[in-house]
Amino acid sequence: MPSRRHILQLLAAAPVLTAAGCSGPDATPDPYAAWRQPGQGESDPRRFVLAHGLLAPNPHNRQPWLVRLEGADAMSLYVDRTRLLPETDPFHRQIVLGCGAFLELIALSAPRLGLAADIQAWPKGAPGPGLDDRPFARVVLRPDPAAKAGPFFDQIVRRRTEKAPFLPERPSDSAVREVLAAATGPGLIAGETRDPELRDPLAAICWKAWEIETGTPRTHLESVRLMRIGKAEVARNPDGIDISGGMMEVLARAGVMTREALSDPNSMASRTGVDMYREMIDATPGFFWIRSETADRSAQLAAGRAYARAQLAASTNGLVLHPWSMALQEFAEMAGPYRQVQALLGARPDAPVQMLVRMGTVRKVSDPSPRRKLDDLILS
Ligand SMILES: Cc1cc2nc3c(=O)[nH]c(=O)nc-3n(C[C@H](O)[C@H](O)[C@H](O)COP(=O)(O)O)c2cc1C
Repeated sequence: MPSRRHILQLLAAAPVLTAAGCSGPDATPDPYAAWRQPGQGESDPRRFVLAHGLLAPNPHNRQPWLVRLEGADAMSLYVDRTRLLPETDPFHRQIVLGCGAFLELIALSAPRLGLAADIQAWPKGAPGPGLDDRPFARVVLRPDPAAKAGPFFDQIVRRRTEKAPFLPERPSDSAVREVLAAATGPGLIAGETRDPELRDPLAAICWKAWEIETGTPRTHLESVRLMRIGKAEVARNPDGIDISGGMMEVLARAGVMTREALSDPNSMASRTGVDMYREMIDATPGFFWIRSETADRSAQLAAGRAYARAQLAASTNGLVLHPWSMALQEFAEMAGPYRQVQALLGARPDAPVQMLVRMGTVRKVSDPSPRRKLDDLILS
């Protein structure tokens, strides 16, 4: 059985165990630092697993997670309700999916220290359409002689959400099989298509849904407010939608890429955005999705965990995933695409599609997205 001393030795070795393969920008503090050697120098195993957890995919990169450390080896995880997306995610379904992804990366990193993460979801009961003060999970880390980090652990720092046009090649059967296997679980059904007969109508619904979200001022402005334009803004607010680096810096400095311009559908910045997203949806050789058999909070948490595994499996097998969630959003103007996508994928509002995701390959993976500091997540 691994002793505490053994765990501390493993923690001390953490710097050489992981490699993010990314470099930070000049800005201080470095908003991408979390990707390099997560957990380095930590002496508390909970902080090691949390340093990996916060690299999880999550809607609009809000990172809506809070943690209370309890005793020597336990912690309760909460939704940070100051970080919700009330316009595009009125019932906080996507936020809970992001919490599931956070939880999954915690569970996958505990074995690296010879520990198992015992997880109780919604230990004080689950909330209804609103969220409340109750934790979404309680985690206890305990020594486990059988614990061994699996192949997904190494992908935690390599995984990216690729917001880019994909190569035209059809993803291979073997890689797609691995992604589906990673996402399938009790109460969850994973599906995919690379067949134009289903791919084309799905792409058309996705595009319509994108137009509705960006054409509805209150939902569009929710995203615009979360855009971080230029390196300095990203460094000040290492969350939200990162619009920095390369050409974006030039456009931001020239006053072309501003929040005001992005709020105006006729601006050059907005028209450029339309072209970029149109190119992405057109360059989508396949879609992947996760349905759940129920629509409750536990199903949402489980689907978020499954999605995190799917993205790590994709990364292991040379595929990339990019959620395209607009048609799954539950605000009134989206009712048409919502109904269509559920029907097309054999789902219903009480057994819904939880994730709808572009799937393909890219020539070169992108840089990581920013992350907040671990200390900012921990409640005193
Ligand atoms: C539930 C959920 C929904 C998401 N929906 C979208 C989406 O509609 N469009 C998009 O570009 N990214 C979407 N994402 C991906 C996030 O934007 C991404 O995870 C976040 O920006 C952090 O980037 P990273 O995954 O590369 O670390 C979604 C992620 C989750 C977990």
